[in-house]
Amino acid sequence: MHHFKYKNGELYAEEIPLSELADKFGTPLYVYSRKTIERHFRTYLDAFRYIEHIVCFAVKSNPNPSILRLLAKMGAGADIVSGGELYLALKAGIPPEKIVYTGVGKTEEEIRFALKSGILMFNIESEEELREIDNIAKKMGKKARIGLRVNPEVDAKTHPYISTGLKKYKFGIPIENALELYIYAKKLKNVEITGIHSHIGSQITATEPFIQSLSNIIRLTDNLRRIGITIKYLDLGGGLGIKYKDEEPPLPSELSMELKNILMGQDVKIILEPGRSIIGNAGILLGKVLYTKKAHKTFIITDTGMNDLIRPTLYQAYHQILPVKRSKLSKTIFGDLVGPICESGDYIAKERVLPAMKRGDYFVVMSAGAYGFSMSSNYNARPRVAEVLVDGKKVSLIRKRETYADLTRNCRI
Ligand code: LLP
Repeated sequence: MHHFKYKNGELYAEEIPLSELADKFGTPLYVYSRKTIERHFRTYLDAFRYIEHIVCFAVKSNPNPSILRLLAKMGAGADIVSGGELYLALKAGIPPEKIVYTGVGKTEEEIRFALKSGILMFNIESEEELREIDNIAKKMGKKARIGLRVNPEVDAKTHPYISTGLKKYKFGIPIENALELYIYAKKLKNVEITGIHSHIGSQITATEPFIQSLSNIIRLTDNLRRIGITIKYLDLGGGLGIKYKDEEPPLPSELSMELKNILMGQDVKIILEPGRSIIGNAGILLGKVLYTKKAHKTFIITDTGMNDLIRPTLYQAYHQILPVKRSKLSKTIFGDLVGPICESGDYIAKERVLPAMKRGDYFVVMSAGAYGFSMSSNYNARPRVAEVLVDGKKVSLIRKRETYADLTRNCRI
């Protein structure tokens, strides 16, 4: 459920016509709906109210400081993957005791920053990293709270680039080695075993992989308990999918019901790390048609491309394209909706039925709130786009459009 709907043939973000936003702020433009974000976040809180939990928003999905602040005010924690994300989370007012830090390549500087900040837990991805964190904590006179990121050997059945829970991927500690590594961690003086973590992939559209993963993890925590290692936090990761086209992913409430039987009776707090299912359908990318061209096929050439939204190029991802103004007579065409970038892979929609549009028309790329702006770049020296947050009839510019001067800001000529 989101708040981008047609009223009298015109597409709105909550109570504001998108054409108004395009005229006022220019295109391309990321537009977010506050009501949708709040609703999605609350859905998680409600779904898991039967067990003590923290919802740690996956900052990588959308690191805009205003969005992080909004979530912080609703009680969110953060799942971070870098020092930069830690900086953003803290700056947005997310309390360090609600921050978990996952990632295969944490640097010494990042580890120090996280220790100094007093985060809830490092999710360890290798034995070497564990030793390094113990060393750094010792030098700093601190104790690092840790959990192992366990690779539960579960197939998330999603795109291979966003699947993580199998041995062949770089993530986590193979589940069969985890017990041994926990025993080793227990001997280290400067770490405190706090939790266990697993994240099996993203855009997962069934509950089974989550159930299977959790069952494998619980078997491990039972074995750990038997040898005197108690796990306080069970971090279930993120990964719940959203509807881009015709997927029917489970709702957080459905997932929570399915997990309830396994979780009840466990003396643990749980951590959830959703990104996409909170912000994905709460944001759109607004663009403008520059030209149309009939060649071997029909191209709609627009002012937005792979540098603003790389998901179609990188994962062959489907994003619905809607015209900002439509009428009963609106026609469709078959072709590609492309950007201005000098790459054949620069497309938003390829070989699809699209709304027939002409030069100057505005259109929307739906479900672009997650991994949209956060994966954008300056490729082809294109300034990064602006972001606005709509709240009913109100709109706030939450990130200014970059200027040409920004392109040389950190350069010495
Ligand atoms: N926790 C960890 C440890 C993760 O690695 C991720 C995402 C999440 C949580 C959040 O997952 P979500 O709830 O958003 O599925 N760029 C790709 C997605 C990459 C996901 C990376 N990790 C895309 O655009 O589809």
